[in-house]
Amino acid sequence: MSQPTGLVRTGIGPIDRDHLHLWDLFQTLLEKDLREDEALAVLKELLAYTRYHFGREERLMQEIGLTGEPRQAHIHEHAIFVKRVENFLELLQNRAAPKTTGLQAMVEEIQKMHQLPTLPQLDPAKRVVAFLVDWILNHTSGMDVELANHTEAAKGPLANQDFSFLESDRPAAS
Ligand SMILES: [Fe+2]
Ligand SMILES: [Fe+2]
Repeated sequence: MSQPTGLVRTGIGPIDRDHLHLWDLFQTLLEKDLREDEALAVLKELLAYTRYHFGREERLMQEIGLTGEPRQAHIHEHAIFVKRVENFLELLQNRAAPKTTGLQAMVEEIQKMHQLPTLPQLDPAKRVVAFLVDWILNHTSGMDVELANHTEAAKGPLANQDFSFLESDRPAAS
């Protein structure tokens, strides 16, 4: 698969492959006309894979001896993102309530916090997904690239490094 526009490569193989996989899951949610149960299954997989991926990055931080603010800030962003995906999942799961009030509120909150281009053609659920995609792009080009820079500073050129220690059992697809 070619590199999607806007998704920056870090130069760390396992991390970049994870980003592509997450990207695919997001595109499935955005572009395919999924039934609600299918969308929920994809979102659950996305949450599981996101946790796994963040775990790998945090393991890398440990491996290169990254401490202090750069480590704390990065881990903090991961935690906020996981919370958002969890909230989103929870909202979709409890949508037995009339309409999508919870989702609409989340969309409004997101739009207040971030000057996102308005996406009027998308329903509230897809707008939340669009926000999550936007987050991933920003996070990858910011903190993940910084992590790659720290890794290079600590251990030398990325191309010469063996990142196989990051390979461990992936979460089972749901
Ligand atoms: Fe990442
Ligand atoms: Fe990250």
